[in-house]
Amino acid sequence: MLRYLMAGVLAANAVLAADVTFNRDVLPILQKNCQTCHRPGEIGPSSFLTYDSTRPWAKAIKTAVVTRVMPPWFADPKYGHFANDRRLSDADVSTLSAWADAGAPEGDPKDKPVPVKWHEGWNIQPDVVFEIPKPYTVPATGTIEYTYFVVPSGFTKDTWVIDGEVRPSNRGVVHHASVHVRPPGSLWMKDAKPGEPYVPPHSAPGAPPPAGNQSNEWLLGYVPGVHGEYFDKNHKAAKLIPAGSDLVFEMHYTANGKAAGIDQTKVGFVLAKGAPEKRLLTVPVADMSFTIPPEDPNHAGHAEAEFDQPVELVYSQPHMHLRGKDMDIHLEYPTGESQMLVSVPRFDFNWQLVYYEDKPLRLPKGTKIKLDAHWDNSANNRMNPDPKATVKWGDQSWDEMIFAWIGVVVPPDVDLDKAMAVRRGNAANSSRP
Ligand code: HEC
Repeated sequence: MLRYLMAGVLAANAVLAADVTFNRDVLPILQKNCQTCHRPGEIGPSSFLTYDSTRPWAKAIKTAVVTRVMPPWFADPKYGHFANDRRLSDADVSTLSAWADAGAPEGDPKDKPVPVKWHEGWNIQPDVVFEIPKPYTVPATGTIEYTYFVVPSGFTKDTWVIDGEVRPSNRGVVHHASVHVRPPGSLWMKDAKPGEPYVPPHSAPGAPPPAGNQSNEWLLGYVPGVHGEYFDKNHKAAKLIPAGSDLVFEMHYTANGKAAGIDQTKVGFVLAKGAPEKRLLTVPVADMSFTIPPEDPNHAGHAEAEFDQPVELVYSQPHMHLRGKDMDIHLEYPTGESQMLVSVPRFDFNWQLVYYEDKPLRLPKGTKIKLDAHWDNSANNRMNPDPKATVKWGDQSWDEMIFAWIGVVVPPDVDLDKAMAVRRGNAANSSRP
């Protein structure tokens, strides 16, 4: 009772602080927003399943949510409506802070919500599964460069997939993963031996991008806490894996700081029974012509492209490397009207998030996509591998990119070249990233 009396004479949030308990107020927020990554075997460094495991983190939780470092979400809330929006409401942020301020009280066990039954198997029922051929050992500590595994599909005819899922076997060491389709004839990752882990060699600073057909299409990925949003739920749209293609696993492993981890990531696909009504296509927008001078803290980049077809836009994924600072993606309609698709004011290389539209955006033919980004090549950027370098386009994290994958739904006979005319972003025509 003394608690309430004292609270009465203090500020409004002190009343809240005195009242908030783990069991009644905090646990439901953690279940909904955090446990997907913060439970044993997942990528979060702490488990928020129980009071005992969460309590030591109370202050860190407050700091992480007040600064909006957690949950990881980088889109400016002023723009767009995203199906996978992870931002906490202001009310939830206040509740978590008030709980930490009150000394992390447990409360009445009777108030506890029912534990979430976390799903541990496939979320889809795959017809075919491909996996990295050998288990890969991720060291306990240190930075691990993006590692690629080429796995031949063995598909002798064009194959349409209506659903897919990437499943790391050890989610504690897989920060994120992407699976790309490399069609026959592409020289992308040409020096990788099928099945072997491959880290592309460091190119000389400022070396031009390699010549020749470098085409690949991003097919689907794994980001912690996101399931099965890569495909059209009605299964009207499918992705094409051309005959003779390779699948390329792009693995972003992270050391967990404690022990080496072994991973053998898989990808599963549900195959279309007949010809699909529509094609789901991931189109790249990029500019490869930039040069970032040494020490430049705010170098601007721009890329744009134009749709030669009406499309339904379903997702976008801004992409830069370690010097990436911010990126805005605008749509510009043939009427001249412009709309922000997604704005990422604080780009973070560690979180390559895909932003799924709440509802598909219907874009008329002639709609432009414009990327505006900045890089920080100064020593103030703690991620910067070398502020003295002149930096150009390249696959590796010490090279740079201004790039976005845009997911669009189109008629089944439309391919990358027909969907999009690249008006600027020169090299993307002949040598696609
Ligand atoms: C998508 C996965 C994911 C979700 C969802 C998530 N976290 Fe995290 N969290 C991480 C990872 C991974 C780290 C380790 C640091 C990093 O990689 O950014 C982390 C680190 C933290 C830390 C430690 C920060 C420090 O001091 O080092 C706290 C506290 C935290 N998260 C709280 C939360 C809370 C609270 C929520 C929910 C409101 C949440 N996280 C949701 C993945 C997640």
